[in-house]
Amino acid sequence: SLVSGSEIFKEARKNGYAIGAYNTNNLEWTQAILQSAQEKNAPVLIQTSMGAAKYMGGYKLVVDMVNNLIDSMNITVPVVLHLDHGEYEHALECIEAGYTSVMFDGSSLPFEENLAKTKDVVKRAHAKGMSVECEVGTIGGEEDGIVGTGELADIDECIQMVNTGIDFLACGIGNIHGVYPENWKGLDFDHLQAITEAVGKDVPLVLHGGSGIPQDQIEKAITMGISKVNVNTEFQIAFAKATRQYIEDGKDQQGKGFDPRKLLAPGKEAIIKEAKNHIDWFGSADKA
Ligand code: G3H
Ligand code: ZN
Repeated sequence: SLVSGSEIFKEARKNGYAIGAYNTNNLEWTQAILQSAQEKNAPVLIQTSMGAAKYMGGYKLVVDMVNNLIDSMNITVPVVLHLDHGEYEHALECIEAGYTSVMFDGSSLPFEENLAKTKDVVKRAHAKGMSVECEVGTIGGEEDGIVGTGELADIDECIQMVNTGIDFLACGIGNIHGVYPENWKGLDFDHLQAITEAVGKDVPLVLHGGSGIPQDQIEKAITMGISKVNVNTEFQIAFAKATRQYIEDGKDQQGKGFDPRKLLAPGKEAIIKEAKNHIDWFGSADKA
């Protein structure tokens, strides 16, 4: 069933594993994420960017789709439906539409405004039992039109943000959205350590830009306080690659291979495989 993120992420933080937060774009993507979590007996977070929700027909449609799939697919693991990188008005809209968690991303605003709006979102979301993520220090790269410069999160700002009562904190530690450049220096573990020490050991931290980070760095980050890892680009690449392969093999021209249900199947299978691998890396298998 749909649950808020607050309890399951607290549990993850306490027991030293992370929960995957996977972006969805359509029906197949959503089915694939739910199926992987169920097969791995893992809690999972399905998230939509503002753009993906708009593409699918709006927040209410996403809520209905996810709830219906949980029923029809007999999903019994905890599922969180979360708004990813939401502007203030969008966060409020999702709170009303039936999301169970929101990210208010005010990282491009002056810090005082980010803080004030976060406080307001926390008040409204918590009144409905929903969890809130916010961000300090922009994540580098670009995701769905959101561009960040990739600065390291300011420690004092992290403390002030956590004091608003948020449930999990996204903080820049050298992570970047999209494909990592050749000359990427890796995650800044000293900075992650400093953040964890400053905000306390029970605050779940969020690693954005989870695609393409070497597995050993992800595992190390989890031991240091990362409890939510966001993955989007890797699934997109896997989906595109499997679909291209199907077409290049000419399978769309054999029998009724052009049937969209057949054409989209290899991409969906590729996402299931990726998602299950990530669940194993994050240590959240059998934690439902
Ligand atoms: O908010 C979503 C993520 O941070 C995804 O980043 O596309 O680099 O995996 P990614
Ligand atoms: Zn992100």
